[in-house]
Amino acid sequence: MLWVGTSWKMNGTRAFAREYAHELAEAGISSADGVQPFVIPSFTAIDAVADILDGSDVIVGAQNAHWENSGAWTGEVSMLQAKDAGATIIEMGHSERRQYFGETDQTVNAKVKAALAHDLIPLVCFGESAEVFESDKSIDFIVGQIDAALEGVEDTSRVLLAYEPIWAIGENGRPPRREDLVAAFDVLNERYGSRVEAILYGGSVNFDNNQELLGIPGVGGLFIGRSAWTGKGYLTNLRLAAQTLQ
Ligand code: PGA
Repeated sequence: MLWVGTSWKMNGTRAFAREYAHELAEAGISSADGVQPFVIPSFTAIDAVADILDGSDVIVGAQNAHWENSGAWTGEVSMLQAKDAGATIIEMGHSERRQYFGETDQTVNAKVKAALAHDLIPLVCFGESAEVFESDKSIDFIVGQIDAALEGVEDTSRVLLAYEPIWAIGENGRPPRREDLVAAFDVLNERYGSRVEAILYGGSVNFDNNQELLGIPGVGGLFIGRSAWTGKGYLTNLRLAAQTLQ
């Protein structure tokens, strides 16, 4: 199964979310073609999207959740609350959260454990900076992030990993070339491939590189930002991914 999903980051009103979700519902996406779709809206839209996609094969997620169930954590949302809103996947460790909101390997580890305890799927993002990449230290760096994220977790079989090199993400990112990723996925697959649900790639995925990226050995899916921020864009990415399995 290839996992192909999108995070909308901090984009979209509830009206946008409903329209997008209806577009997916009407498209009748099915995971029977070997692609598991998932959509991660902002917190405010999780329930609306989950309601519309209820009964479909599309899994809905949250972009973050706290490891404690409740308490004095102003501004945070717990795993319980995210689940209550309709989330099944919990994203964690994205470089934007590490850079701007104090996410650390330790908080990611606490979140992995909390998500699994609530029967949620942790989507653990990791990735190195351009500086680390250029100094050829990427593999040690990302293995360190993953090992820290999974420390003390006995059963990691439901975990999704997403390799998101910082140099490849967002408007200032450079779309990766195949040769930028082959060695890393080789190691990732060998170390974690049999222990986790799937290892995804994310960062400047677009219609032109979607299939090439899925052709890299060890890549078990795509985690997409900008090119899936319209229903049509996401559906095109799903269709391209499904073609690689034919
Ligand atoms: P992008 O975002 O596809 O817009 O580069 C990827 C991400 O941050 O997950």
